[in-house]
Formats: sequence, C-alpha cells, structure tokens
Amino acid sequence: MRVRSEGRAKSNAFKTSFLITLAYLFFALLWGLARNKVQPFLEPPYSAWDDPVWIEAATYILATSVLLFAFVHHLVKAIDRHHQESLKAKLDLVNRLALAAEFRDGMRNGHNMRIGQGSGIVARKLGLPETRVQVLSQASMLHDIGKIGIPDSVLSKAGPLTPEERSVMEKHTEYGANLLEGSDLEVLQVARAIALTHHERWDGSGYPAGLAGERIPLEGRIVAVCDVFDALTSERTYKRAWTIDEARTYLAEQAGRLFDPEVVAAFIESLDEIVALGVNGEAGQAAPAMAVVSAQPNQEDRYSVIGG
Ligand SMILES: [Fe+2]
Ligand SMILES: [Fe+2]
Repeated sequence: MRVRSEGRAKSNAFKTSFLITLAYLFFALLWGLARNKVQPFLEPPYSAWDDPVWIEAATYILATSVLLFAFVHHLVKAIDRHHQESLKAKLDLVNRLALAAEFRDGMRNGHNMRIGQGSGIVARKLGLPETRVQVLSQASMLHDIGKIGIPDSVLSKAGPLTPEERSVMEKHTEYGANLLEGSDLEVLQVARAIALTHHERWDGSGYPAGLAGERIPLEGRIVAVCDVFDALTSERTYKRAWTIDEARTYLAEQAGRLFDPEVVAAFIESLDEIVALGVNGEAGQAAPAMAVVSAQPNQEDRYSVIGG
C-alpha cells in the first residue's frame, strides 16, 4: 500500500510539473506568434535558425522550461510527502487510540481492528466512495473509545450487568462523543458520530437518543451490524461464542427491526470476506462453540449479548 501511494505521488508530481511546463511553453508560443517571433523559425527562408539572437531567445525559453519543470516537480513531491506523512500520523493516532480503548476493555483480541476492516468491506459493498470507505474504516476503530470513562467495576464485571450497571455502561456512547468532540480532522468527526450512534437501532429501540431509520448516520448503522456480529461470535465469560451461521441468522432476522436491512444485506453478501479477517481473533475460523451458558441470545440482556 505504501509502495502504491509513493508511486501515485511520483506520477502525480510528474503529471503536475509536465502540465505546468506545457502551459508555460504554450503561453510563450502564443506570445511569440503575437509578436511575430515564431514565424522566422517556421516559415521560409527560416532566417531565425542562422541568427544567434533568435537562437539565444529560443534556448532561454527551453532552459527556463526545464528549470520550471524541475522546480514544480520538487515542490509537488514535497507537498505530497508532507500529505502522506500527515495521513500516516493520523492513522497512527487513530490506531493507538483504538489500542488504548482495547486495553481498557480487557484486550478483546483485535475487536476494534476487525470492526475497522469489516466496516470498510460493508461500506464498499454498499457502493460508498473509496475516500469515505477509508475514513469509515479508520474512524470505526474508535467506536468504543468512550469505555475509557466507564468504571472498572462495571467494565470488567465477569457476568451480565444489572440494569443500573447497564445504564452506566451505556454512557460510553456519550463519553466517546465528548472525547472526540470539536476536532477539525474528518476522521475524528466521523468517529464521533459513530461513537455516539453505534448502539442506536433501526426501530428506535437503541440508545442514547433512540434515533430510528435514516436519522442514524449510515456509518453508525454499518458499525452497529459489524459490532453485533463480532460480539455474538466472540466468547464471553457469560456466554459461548455463537457460530457464524447462528450470528448470520440472527442478523437476517433483525434486518428491518434492529438493523438497517440494506446494511445487513451488504454484510451477509460480504460475510466470507469478513470471516476471513478472523472471528474472535482466529483468522478464517468459526469460533468454537464453548460451554453453553446461553444457547440463544437473552433478549433481556441486550447489552451483554449484542452490545459489542
Ligand atoms: Fe459500544
Ligand atoms: Fe464494540
């Protein structure tokens, strides 16, 4: 990927410098034609070719063209390099924040990374432009960043949460949004929207605002599906890991209820690709069915089972 972006930067620098130099030569030619300074080179008796003054003028134009090309090429490459470094710094920042959230949440075996990649795959399947896919992919890794603000007694509790604890846990959406509020970076603006809305549900039964349908940002709807799938297929102390088929059936049943049906359709169409990212940290394998604590999702305990 780095090689590709460096190659693209080089060809971009060459193209830009070439076009600017061509524009300079074109205007020099127009100026020469308007002042009858080109015709002596092109029309009989071609007198300019024997005149040192004319030759010197032409050489001057050619030499300045070469200098202009070299200068612009150097400038565009420097700007591209700066742009690439700034992109890398942003990505690095997002990765480290995602990692910090994952440490805080008891190292969930690459959950945030899988949500990042899975969301990108679904967004691409939905036909979103590649730039939006890339931003979503990075931003979605921060969906649970607000868990940094949840007390250990709730976050690390081994077992289902009480209603009071669940309402404390649900605050992670608003904490995340507050943490990411006010940034000029697009990736953090999208991350804020995702942090705030990834537990909203299509039918309005989610939290924190009870938004429904398309009032939930598309990015939030995509992450909701990926997050729930990953949570279902992961083992918890209080539940076994669901098989891929069980999780797929659940998502299909909830399409148009809890989840955006178009997003679920795109997710299911991309399931092979998403499973290949790894489930519960095991690349390309279905998570093993552990001792069954809850063979079916406990609808009373939505956070624990499908909360992500
Ligand atoms: Fe969450
Ligand atoms: Fe999550």
